[in-house]
Amino acid sequence: MPRITVDGRSYEVAEGRTLLQALDDLGVLMNGVDLPHYCWHPKLSIDGSCRLCQVEVEGLPKLQIACNTPVKDGMEVRTTTERVRRAREGVMELLLLNHPLDCPICDQAGECKLQDYAFEYGLSHARTREPRRPGRKRVELGPTVVFDEERCILCRRCVRFCREVPGTGELGVASRGDRSTIETFPGQPLDNPYSMNVADICPVGALTTRDFRFKIRVWFLDEVPGLCTGCATGCNVHLGVANNKVYRYVPRRNDAVNDTWICDHGRLSYKAIGADDRLVEPALRQEDGRLCSSSAEQALAEAAARIRQAVADKGPSVVGALASAHATNEDLFTLRRLLEGIGTDIAGLPVVLGESDDLLVSPEKAANATGARALGFGDPHPVLERLRGGGLDVLLVLGHDVLELLEEEPPLAGLASLILLDTHHSPLERWAQVVLPARHAAEKLGTLTNRDGRVQRLQPAVEPGWDARSEGEWLQALGRALELPGFEGTWDPHALSKAMGESVPAFAGVHLDSVGETGQVLRGVAEAGE
Ligand code: SF4
Ligand code: SF4
Ligand code: FES
Repeated sequence: MPRITVDGRSYEVAEGRTLLQALDDLGVLMNGVDLPHYCWHPKLSIDGSCRLCQVEVEGLPKLQIACNTPVKDGMEVRTTTERVRRAREGVMELLLLNHPLDCPICDQAGECKLQDYAFEYGLSHARTREPRRPGRKRVELGPTVVFDEERCILCRRCVRFCREVPGTGELGVASRGDRSTIETFPGQPLDNPYSMNVADICPVGALTTRDFRFKIRVWFLDEVPGLCTGCATGCNVHLGVANNKVYRYVPRRNDAVNDTWICDHGRLSYKAIGADDRLVEPALRQEDGRLCSSSAEQALAEAAARIRQAVADKGPSVVGALASAHATNEDLFTLRRLLEGIGTDIAGLPVVLGESDDLLVSPEKAANATGARALGFGDPHPVLERLRGGGLDVLLVLGHDVLELLEEEPPLAGLASLILLDTHHSPLERWAQVVLPARHAAEKLGTLTNRDGRVQRLQPAVEPGWDARSEGEWLQALGRALELPGFEGTWDPHALSKAMGESVPAFAGVHLDSVGETGQVLRGVAEAGE
């Protein structure tokens, strides 16, 4: 492997990479080696247009652009010399010639690379007297993204993204010279399932999403690492949080899962967290048929009494469960233990299916179907058949995905006891005797297993303002109310995750504290891939 020296430090790098790529592979780009760049992006083709990444290479008379200079064994690179600094200042002066001085009213302020580098390399005054080039403002490129022409630095990241990632190619550069501008092709608005990624990769405030623009200043946001739960891919995201509210999802880089992208549907799925239809209190069915709010203790006592009665009358095989592919591995491990404690193995996993593509979007519209299957939850149809045949008296249901499998008049009407744990209101409540409000993934500590068997961590980004608990926490309390052995203590996802690793072979060596920021692959899956 070639060995190169950058600012006196020696690195071993992969053959065939450019300098910026090699530094990015090593994880030192902007993390030890500060090499400003605009047009280069790790997941797009090389453009070489902004000239900001110029460096000195020993033996070459001219400065070279690091994004398009291949590494060579013995190469000596300098990124901090006076000559390099002057080149960066020159590039910044050119870019700022036409850029409006409107950071205070620009929605990108606070996360703008032009603002950052202008602060570091820009002149404090303009040397020109000519007016700045006027440009179009608030141009709707499509239903999701707004363009501000004056702010564009023509790095062409957005153009390359549309051509190379979704392959839709809606954007191009129109006109020449200082009239060049970003345009959509006639009759082809920017409208693809990944369109909003262009706002993430635009290094300036030229592209913003209609959803997020002017909602909040970014410096008020905490960026909490988390996962999108819109489908089985488990894309890594940062949740932008302020005042205990999630304002946005933006992609978090994980080359093993989603590179640096997320789909638009997943990006907007944060809205479910603070939605008006969240379940906010336990509820019990009254004798007059109404479902009325209750205390957690009353609801748990009622659920336990119904299970106890059914087991005493007809045996444990009249108790069954429908798991949820939205629940964490730890929630589902607790469900598994609860069913074992009751003495039944009647359980299934309904999963909603939908559209998919070859890029990120999976057909399974839940984040943890793979984990649920690894924990033994499978085909839900035998449970539904048993229900239809009158063989079940009590059904524990996590979430309402089962509604997709049921016909107009579901077989739930004849069920003596439906105990529902869910995050949002749904028609399933019509048949429930006990309802318990569950936490959304953004409010949970635990792990989810994506479609490739990668176990990834969730941590609470916001705290619900009511007594919502993870499904596992409710089930632990239910086990305690049933006086089952092993359910005495409080619910501890860390301990449960370790116990799961010890008792479920697929999870051996994989738990909440081992998966890190980018996840860890389940044992059987990792071995199959070797
Ligand atoms: S709109 Fe943004 S990403 Fe596109 S060329 Fe202009 S500055 Fe670059
Ligand atoms: S592909 Fe799936 S996991 Fe990724 S952002 Fe979209 S919905 Fe979320
Ligand atoms: S990042 Fe190298 S020329 Fe733009």
